[in-house]
Amino acid sequence: MNNFKKNKNLLEEIHKRRTFAIISHPDSGKTTITEKILFIGKVIHNTGSIKPKKNKKYTKSDWMHIEKKRGISITTSVMRFIYKNKLINLLDTPGHSDFSEDTYRILTAVDCCLMIIDASKGVEEQTRKLLSVARMYKKPIITFINKIDRDFKNPIKLLEEIESEFNIISSPITWPIGTGSFLQGIYNLKSEEINFYSSFFNNRSDLKKITGLFHPHLKNFFDYNTILNIRREVHFLKKNFFIFNKKEFLQGNLTPVFFGTALKNFGIDQVLQALVEWAPNPLYRRTNIRKIYPQESKFSGFIFKIQANMDLKHRDRIAFMRIVSGKYFKGIKIKQTRTLKNLIIRDAFYFLAGERYFIQEAYPGDIIGIHNHGNIQIGDTFTEGEKIKFLGIPYFSPEIFRKIRLKNPLQQKKLLKGLFQLSEEGSVQIFRSIQNNSLIIGVIGILQFEIISDRLRMEYNIEPIYENINICCIRWISSKYVDKLNFFKQQNESYLGLDKDNLLIYFFPSMINLKIITARNKDIIFSKTREYQIM
Ligand code: G4P
Repeated sequence: MNNFKKNKNLLEEIHKRRTFAIISHPDSGKTTITEKILFIGKVIHNTGSIKPKKNKKYTKSDWMHIEKKRGISITTSVMRFIYKNKLINLLDTPGHSDFSEDTYRILTAVDCCLMIIDASKGVEEQTRKLLSVARMYKKPIITFINKIDRDFKNPIKLLEEIESEFNIISSPITWPIGTGSFLQGIYNLKSEEINFYSSFFNNRSDLKKITGLFHPHLKNFFDYNTILNIRREVHFLKKNFFIFNKKEFLQGNLTPVFFGTALKNFGIDQVLQALVEWAPNPLYRRTNIRKIYPQESKFSGFIFKIQANMDLKHRDRIAFMRIVSGKYFKGIKIKQTRTLKNLIIRDAFYFLAGERYFIQEAYPGDIIGIHNHGNIQIGDTFTEGEKIKFLGIPYFSPEIFRKIRLKNPLQQKKLLKGLFQLSEEGSVQIFRSIQNNSLIIGVIGILQFEIISDRLRMEYNIEPIYENINICCIRWISSKYVDKLNFFKQQNESYLGLDKDNLLIYFFPSMINLKIITARNKDIIFSKTREYQIM
C-alpha cells in the first residue's frame, strides 16, 4: 500500500501538532486556565474576554438559548494557537456535569488531557468520573494543581490522593514554596529553577527566577527557614516519588504534576512547556480492519460531536471531525463509510469563542467543523474510499430515564423526528419498551431534559410531557447462544426494550436487580456501553 508514501510536509505538520482537552470539576478553574493559555498563546490580548463576570454579558460561546438562560457552557469550541512552534488544538469541554457524555466523546478526539485540581478541594466527583474515562482510553495526563494562592491541603497528600484515586504514578515537576498568602514561588524539580511569585515580593526585584537551591542570592529572597524547608521537601520528593519518565507518561502510567495559580497566571507556562515537549504527536486510531496512522497520505477522520444551532439565524448543524490521517484541503472529496456516499467539503472551519474561521488546509490532530444537513452522525468515519470504521466512540448507558409523550398525540411523528435528530447529535438516547411500545428517553444529567424540551419547542413546535419511570440503568444485551438469548427474552419481556438502532436492551429497576439478573444469567452479555453503529 503506498498509503505511507513519504511526505515531508505531512510529517512536519504532524510533528507540529498537539491536541488536548481539559478535565476538571466545575469551579476548579478550567475557564480561567483556558483564558490564560489563550493569552500566553496570543489568541486573546486581554484576559476576561472569554469568561463573563457573573450577571454580566454572556460569552459568545454561549450559543444555545438554554446556555444563555442558565449561564452555563454546554457547547464545545476548538481553540488553536501556536506556542513555541507547535500548533496546539485545545478542545473545550462542557462546564456542567450533566453534559459529561459529550466530554467522554471529546476525549476520543484528543491525544492528551490536562487535569485541573483545586488545591483546597483535592480530587472531586466530576474529575473522578472524567478521568476514569480518560484512563480507559489510556490518554497521557498532565496534572495542574490550581489555586495555590489560597490555603490548601498538604501538597504531598495531594500527590498521594492522585495516586490512590486513579492508580497512576504522580511525578511532581513543580513544587510550591509557601501557600496561600505566604506563597513565594515555585521550584521546578527538573530544571531546578525557582520562579518568584511577584505578588508576594511586590515586584521589588527585576529578577524573576534563579537556578539551584544553593544559589548564593537565595537568601536575598527567602528567610533561612524557608530555604531549609524547601531543600528538605525536595529531598523528600526525590526519594519518595518517581522521577518523570516520558515513556511511562505516554503510556498513561504516570502523570507529571504542576502547581500554580491560574488567576495570577503563575505556573501555567510550565504546563504549556510540558505539553509542547512531552505530549504526544497525533496518534494512530483503531478501525474495525486495521490501525490508521497519521502519516498515511490518504485522508481519514471521524465525527465525535454534532452541534446544533450554533447560529440560530441559519439553524445550522455542525459536525466536528478529528482528522486521523492525510491532509484536508478545500474541495476534498471524501466518502462516508456508513452510507458509502461521497461528500465534497468546500468549507471546513474551526471556532474560537463563537467566531468561525475558515480552514484551507488541516492535518492529523486537527479538528474541523463541517456543515451537516442531517446526514452525518456521531461515530461516522470519512475516508478517501477505504471501507473502514473507526472504533472506540461509545454510547454510555444513561443514568436518568423518563417516559416521554406529547399533549397532542397526533404530533407523534414530529416527536420521533425531533428525538431521532437529537439522538444523532448525542443529546439523548431513545428506547422503546418491547411490551407496550412506550417511548423512553435516557440522559446523563437532568439538565438535558430541559435542553430537549427547549429544542423540541423551538425547532419542532411541540410540547413534550415527561413521566417518571422506574428504571435505574440499562444494559445492551447479547449472547453467543441464540437459544439461551431467546429463552432469556421470553422470560424477561416486560424488562426489555430496543434502542434507536433496534439493539436489544434490558431496563433495570435497581442496582440490586442488576446484580441478581447478571449473576443468574452468565451466558448473557450485559454491556454498559456500545459502539456507535458499525457498518
Ligand atoms: P471552571 O471553569 O472550572 O468552572 O472555573 P472558573 O475558571 O470559572 O473558576 C472558578 C472560580 O475560581 C472563579 O471565581 C475564578 O476566578 C476562581 N479561580 C480560578 N483560578 C483561581 C486561582 O488560581 N486562585 C483563586 N484564588 N481563584 C481562582 P468566581 O468568583 O466564581 O468567578 P469570577 O467572578 O472571579 O469570574
